[in-house]
Amino acid sequence: RQAQGERPSLIKLIPHQGPQRGSCISGRVSLRYSTMPKEKSQKNRPGFLVTFEGIEGSGKSTQLELLAEYLAAKGRPVLKTREPGGTSIGNAIRAILLDPSRADMVPKAELFLILASRAQHIAEVIRPAIAEGKIVLCDRFVHATIAYQGYGRGLASSFVESMAGHAAESIRPRVTFLLDLDVSIALDRLASRGELSRIDRETLAFHGRVREGYLKIANKFKRITRRIDAARPIEAVAQEIREQMDLLHV
Ligand code: TMP
Repeated sequence: RQAQGERPSLIKLIPHQGPQRGSCISGRVSLRYSTMPKEKSQKNRPGFLVTFEGIEGSGKSTQLELLAEYLAAKGRPVLKTREPGGTSIGNAIRAILLDPSRADMVPKAELFLILASRAQHIAEVIRPAIAEGKIVLCDRFVHATIAYQGYGRGLASSFVESMAGHAAESIRPRVTFLLDLDVSIALDRLASRGELSRIDRETLAFHGRVREGYLKIANKFKRITRRIDAARPIEAVAQEIREQMDLLHV
């Protein structure tokens, strides 16, 4: 069975032999003793990428964790990771990007640091995990770059999309969950969490542009993006995400 939007080229890639730094949840279901399985064997299922997006405080990281638990309980191998970060090099870049004392960083430097982190992440973690048949759940990916560096910082969208395309190579999410929330609610949630990063500290207007950007991107990439109303209780949001995943028959 070929699910809609599947990219067979991704599963033909040769697994990378180097160290893997994402955290992995192994499936609990053993297929060794099953006869005539109705579902595809876990081994033959192709891996793919699922991304979580949204402004700060939208609850995407919590929802990523809940989906990982759900998929693992179904016996699917899951890899949880995030951007910027996900590798040793990526985490070093993340520390620079989020450091509140680096307020002088210019938008293009920010863009290229994020893309450097992504290039390393794809080569070292995402591509090998997909080739091994894992469902890679990534906290932010290309949508974030277009929303933050394009709409938020004001870099030309065509430039940002082109640069982001080079960094992502052929890797595209099968589905992107956009957790959409009113900016003032999201920033209130964020303020209660404690120390704010360089980007968290941006103005309400900046976060408003990022949210609007996300909604435009969702419209542009309709086929893969699912907008989720994140103002609801955690469990209601998690249930909708699980239902959307089930529709993909993975
Ligand atoms: P988070 O881990 O709390 O989501 O923080 C990551 C920060 O990095 C967040 O402020 C958004 C920012 N970011 C970008 O500006 N562009 C990107 O492409 C990505 C992946 C993250």
